Order: sequence, then structure tokens, then C-alpha cells
Amino acid sequence: MVYLTRLEHFNAAHKLFNPSWSIEQNEQAFGKCANENWHGHNYELYVTVKGQPDPGTGFVFDVKQLSLLIREQVVEKVDHMNLNVDVDFMKGKMCSTENLAVGIWNELMKHLPAGVQLHCVKLYETPRIYVEYYGE
Ligand code: NI
Repeated sequence: MVYLTRLEHFNAAHKLFNPSWSIEQNEQAFGKCANENWHGHNYELYVTVKGQPDPGTGFVFDVKQLSLLIREQVVEKVDHMNLNVDVDFMKGKMCSTENLAVGIWNELMKHLPAGVQLHCVKLYETPRIYVEYYGE
């Protein structure tokens, strides 16, 4: 099995605020991230697929196609957006990096061609904080 990763990038705004909690509870759980006037991140998105290299191309998957797919199905929907307000697949969810990684996984799964297996969505919220999701 060979693993192939493509890195894409987007900027987005969000806040971490649970509407069913009090302002004090939100501040305690999320600190500055609960700021009602939003804040932003420069996200780095690593998408890894796996498979056996095709005998004809030597590729697990055409990486240009993978890049296009990530940009069309994910980056177009989140880049320069407000994750809490603008992104259909985050509606009704807490906009944590964890939930965003799961949402991105689900969007990609809908559009990957048959025979290409998604292995991991790894999402950096900051250079020192990231989430990995393997679909389980
Ligand atoms: Ni944040």
C-alpha cells in the first residue's frame, strides 16, 4: 500500500460558541476563541489517499486531479468564509478543528472516484495544533 498526500491551504473565520451554554460557560471552555466578533486561522489541509500504484502510470492517483478535487469540493466552500455561517457542511455543528476535519472527510468521500481510498485528513489550525481523522 502506498500513501499519497496533497497539501492545500485556506483562510477562514470562526468562533467557538455553544449557544445552549451561558456566556460564562463559553468563556470558560473556549477563552478568546468564544469572542463573539470572530477570529481567523490560516488552515493547512493535508489529504492522504492510499492504494497500489497503477502499472501504467506508476501513480496511486493523479495528484493534479486530487488537488482539483480538494479545491473544488472543500477549499472553494471554506476559503475566506465564516465557518459558522457560510459553510453548508458545518451548519449546526461546533466549528472546532475536529469537526471541520470530519466535515472535510465527508465532502471528499462523496466525490472520490471508485478505487481511490481516502486514508487521512490532517488539518492544521495553527503551526502547532492539528487534527487527524481516519474516518472512524
Ligand atoms: Ni479558532
